[in-house]
Amino acid sequence: MALDLREGLLLGLGNPLLDISATVDREFLKKYDLNSNDAILAQEKHKPMYDELIELYKADFIAGGSVQNTLRVAQWFLDRPKIVTYMGCVGTDKYSKILEDRARADGLNVRYQYTNKEPTGTCAVLITGNERSLCANLAAANCFSLSHIEEPENKMLIEMAEYIYVSGFFLTVSPETIQAVAQHALKENKMFMMNLSAPFLCEYYRKPMLAVLPYVDILFGNEVEVDTFAKANNFETTDKKEIALRLSRMEKMNNKRQRIVVITQGADHILVAKDNIVTKFPVVKLPEDRIIDTNGAGDAFVGGFLAQLVQGRDIEDCIKCGVWAATQIIQRSGCTYEGKPSFIP
Ligand SMILES: Nc1ncnc2c1ncn2[C@@H]1O[C@H](COP(=O)(O)OP(=O)(O)O)[C@@H](O)[C@H]1O
Ligand SMILES: [Mg+2]
Repeated sequence: MALDLREGLLLGLGNPLLDISATVDREFLKKYDLNSNDAILAQEKHKPMYDELIELYKADFIAGGSVQNTLRVAQWFLDRPKIVTYMGCVGTDKYSKILEDRARADGLNVRYQYTNKEPTGTCAVLITGNERSLCANLAAANCFSLSHIEEPENKMLIEMAEYIYVSGFFLTVSPETIQAVAQHALKENKMFMMNLSAPFLCEYYRKPMLAVLPYVDILFGNEVEVDTFAKANNFETTDKKEIALRLSRMEKMNNKRQRIVVITQGADHILVAKDNIVTKFPVVKLPEDRIIDTNGAGDAFVGGFLAQLVQGRDIEDCIKCGVWAATQIIQRSGCTYEGKPSFIP
């Protein structure tokens, strides 16, 4: 491992959520008007779903939250705890205790903002075959405010970080916080990274997303998200390679490096646009019966990717580690792992 890995090197901001995960049938998705491969915010009509999952579907409670998942996986590969810092808002209840215990056990330096106004957020994870449908009830996560990163200790942690990662999901919560850290990254020539996170963000949060994109050094997304982005922004192409290139060439503030765009496509190969070239990377095909649930696949991929990136490895190693991590996580329930990773770059 590189010697200069230090505490606080990587920092992420997102929505800490407790996953309520269950395998359901198509009828259930239909009843609540949900797509099988999607991620949305809960509306009034979804509210009864959570109790139904717990009472009738024997749902599991698992620590979730896209960025928290990614960071836990990244920290897994690093020898020393607290190389990774995480911020997000939770309530003061037993759910936040579960989330925080998990994150700390996995070595994260957890810096939650606490609110008394709302309970800790939850996310229904509905598994059908190899697909997952997410429906988030943000609750406390939605209460994150800019003031949290202005507190001296947190401000110092942001200054310490060399790599900063945010989810697209966080755009619905605190775009002003994202802007603040993005501008800080630009000023200090730090690596700023974002995930598109969900199709609805590419469509209905187009404006705040486009306002952040010029700061983004590395952009992650899956096949549905980039398709939606291309449509929403009149790319007039459905060719993923072309979309990747176009995304990499959109306006960028930091001219010291071009934007890298990484597109995952479930079991299909990964596309990377870098320096005006698109490269394909293979994905390890897993037999159906080895896959437990694909929830957190994308999160784990980015976690493995970041673990190598912060060690100064090249993009090929980052992708390989991302695929390795995702392959592990889909063979378990939720974004969970055990023991030491056996990945060798
Ligand atoms: N069915 C699958 N078989 C093998 N690998 C998979 C499968 N689904 C996901 N992965 C791995 O996880 C990565 C991310 O998955 P993807 O579904 O694209 O992300 P997301 O969770 O954001 O939808 C893939 O690039 C691949 O490495
Ligand atoms: Mg997927």
